[in-house]
Amino acid sequence: MAATVQREQVASAYGRWAPVYDMIFGPVFRRGRLDAVAAAERIGGRVLEVGVGTGLSLPSYGKGTRIVGVDISEPMLERARRRVQLLHLDHVESIAVGDAENLAFPTASFDVVVAQYVVTAVPNPERALDEFVRVVRPGGEIIITTRIGAETGLRGTIEKWLMPVTSRLGWRTEFSWSRYERWALGAPGVRLLERRALPPLGHFSLVRYLRLPDPAERTANAPAKAKVVSA
Ligand SMILES: C[S@@+](CC[C@H](N)C(=O)[O-])C[C@H]1O[C@@H](n2cnc3c(N)ncnc32)[C@H](O)[C@@H]1O
Repeated sequence: MAATVQREQVASAYGRWAPVYDMIFGPVFRRGRLDAVAAAERIGGRVLEVGVGTGLSLPSYGKGTRIVGVDISEPMLERARRRVQLLHLDHVESIAVGDAENLAFPTASFDVVVAQYVVTAVPNPERALDEFVRVVRPGGEIIITTRIGAETGLRGTIEKWLMPVTSRLGWRTEFSWSRYERWALGAPGVRLLERRALPPLGHFSLVRYLRLPDPAERTANAPAKAKVVSA
């Protein structure tokens, strides 16, 4: 059976990463975080950051944007809370334990959902994506930064081969774009706005979905082409 990620295993993996997370993953994901925040700021309002981690992106939001952060790992969140306190980030409404696959928020309660480097860390990514759609208001956006796995070729083979290792570290390597496409086809009320490969290698992308006002509008808007940009 193909290796996959388990929620408890991921939570304890990030518990171990927490003390060194900023040092190792701070610079690596910096560009994606800045781009995701810039995209969210274009809409503003109330933003849910799923998998907020140690809160590295929190200081980048404007003071007029209210942020709610959730994450499965309490040790990661402790650091996020400390950051909020130290930097007086008054625009952060709350930081709490929460599961991307079962968000404890009412339908349409956010203007934007931001999920940075988290979709590949949850056991059922499609269920998490469904939850993002549920909690964002019609007209709002879902902004994801994520690793896009290779469909074929040497990279694809290596990624599949690495899965048993990386799933223990807290993420999956094989999660191809076709899985997002299949999800979006079956998800009522979302439309891909943009897929932008992030430098340096383009293995990570920024992906934006629009939450349509109602499912019927998906068909009405179907001909509009999403922007797809390579790194
Ligand atoms: C690679 S880190 C990214 C953290 C942060 N977004 C950043 O850009 O630095 C992935 C985060 O997702 C969290 N996570 C993993 N599974 C989750 C789940 N099911 N629900 C919520 N958060 C989860 C992890 O605890 C970890 O903090």
